Amino acid sequence: MNPAPNLVLVGPMGAGKTSVGKRLAERLGLRFVDCDQRLEQLTGAAVPVIFDCEGEAGFRRRESALIAELMRERGLLVATGGGAVLAAENRALLSARGFVVHLATGVDQQLERLARDRQRPLLNAPDRRARLQALAAQRDPLYAEVADLVFASDGLAVAAAADRLATLL
Ligand code: S3P
Repeated sequence: MNPAPNLVLVGPMGAGKTSVGKRLAERLGLRFVDCDQRLEQLTGAAVPVIFDCEGEAGFRRRESALIAELMRERGLLVATGGGAVLAAENRALLSARGFVVHLATGVDQQLERLARDRQRPLLNAPDRRARLQALAAQRDPLYAEVADLVFASDGLAVAAAADRLATLL
């Protein structure tokens, strides 16, 4: 196992950060934290409600505060939200305190996995494909900046992805 205090998954919506992360944490004996789920527990509000009430900026402030708190711990497997890499302070903390895996996936796979999703405010767009492509253009360089390892989850079932990833760590 790598020597970083925590293992961190970054990557776009629909890459499998939550599902693969949960399984991987079990395999590796790490405590699993999903940032969005933790924010929902802390606020008592679903992510779309936080966006509605506080705007994306408010959500990002909460997300950054949570990341700062989590990166003070060790032994965690943290599944971040797709936009967690937007803030330079988050990227610095994730890099310093985590072995960062970029779970990469293509837009076709994202559209398929997120087809019935209504919980992601940034997907509320007339053209979801265009939205996902625009997000990728903005964020792919940021995922690359923090990643210690890139792992393509396309076409892999959750268990297969987690098992294969575990052999690389
Ligand atoms: C977001 C991704 C979501 C969630 C929020 C914003 C983003 O998390 O944090 O809806 O900016 O890409 P997932 O990547 O887990 O879907």
